[in-house]
Amino acid sequence: MSDQHSPIGILDSGIGGFSVVRQVQRLLPREELLYFGDGAHIPYGNHTQQAIVEMARYMFRFMEDRGVKALLVACNTISCVLDRCGGEVSCPVFSAVQAGAEAAARLEADKVGVISTVFTHNSRVYPRSIQALSPRKLVVLSCGCPDLARLVEHSLGDPEGMAQVEENLRLELDHMVLEDRVDCCVLGCTHYPLVSDRIRRLYPGLPLIDPAEEMAQALRARLNGEGLGNPRQSPGPLAVYTTGDVAEYALRAQQVGLERVSHVEYYPPMEL
Ligand code: DGL
Repeated sequence: MSDQHSPIGILDSGIGGFSVVRQVQRLLPREELLYFGDGAHIPYGNHTQQAIVEMARYMFRFMEDRGVKALLVACNTISCVLDRCGGEVSCPVFSAVQAGAEAAARLEADKVGVISTVFTHNSRVYPRSIQALSPRKLVVLSCGCPDLARLVEHSLGDPEGMAQVEENLRLELDHMVLEDRVDCCVLGCTHYPLVSDRIRRLYPGLPLIDPAEEMAQALRARLNGEGLGNPRQSPGPLAVYTTGDVAEYALRAQQVGLERVSHVEYYPPMEL
């Protein structure tokens, strides 16, 4: 049974969810955070729906066993199949896609662009959700990027890798931004906000929507509303678990600017 002192769970296929941890640490510094990155199976965006659901359930069970009081699905790809992952956790669950769609629907934009994994793109969940939530009649253009999440995952801090990230960004985004001229762009994969400085440099003036900010705000509102905020006086720690490379995760956490990392630990992956 969870209570005020219980941790908040945050999960992703890899380090992308660190973009969400960053926002949660900013808005809710006293909370204790538990992160799970399924490094052994990244990229999720190129897996089948059935595999994604099974891998997500595996991580949900990990979180349930540790009694989290809220679970942030900091993976847009999993968020697209959340309705199939039910029953594994007893706490409130927050979806990255819901957060991104709510933020996009609030903007005064006529043409919204969404970049995401191929799975998220093919699911059409973003266009449907934005159009359902927006009071305006807007056009949503979506672009699936097969390689971008993987490139970001392994390239932070490496000049050659980041040059590849930039090349890939141009390949995927030039048409949407320069030809179709979208009014804004939803970063519909949690890996992409980790390179938002590059995207801003390539497309100056293009408003970017990071679902992570919206997720952290929704979490804060829910915890405050239910009196579930952690009453501790000192800042809360962050424990990181990964089925991938522990040393790489420790380095990425540092590069992304995460604070108070208590430990980074290996956890065995689900067998596919
Ligand atoms: N970061 C994830 C997302 O938001 C998925 C990246 C991947 O594993 O393909 O969709």
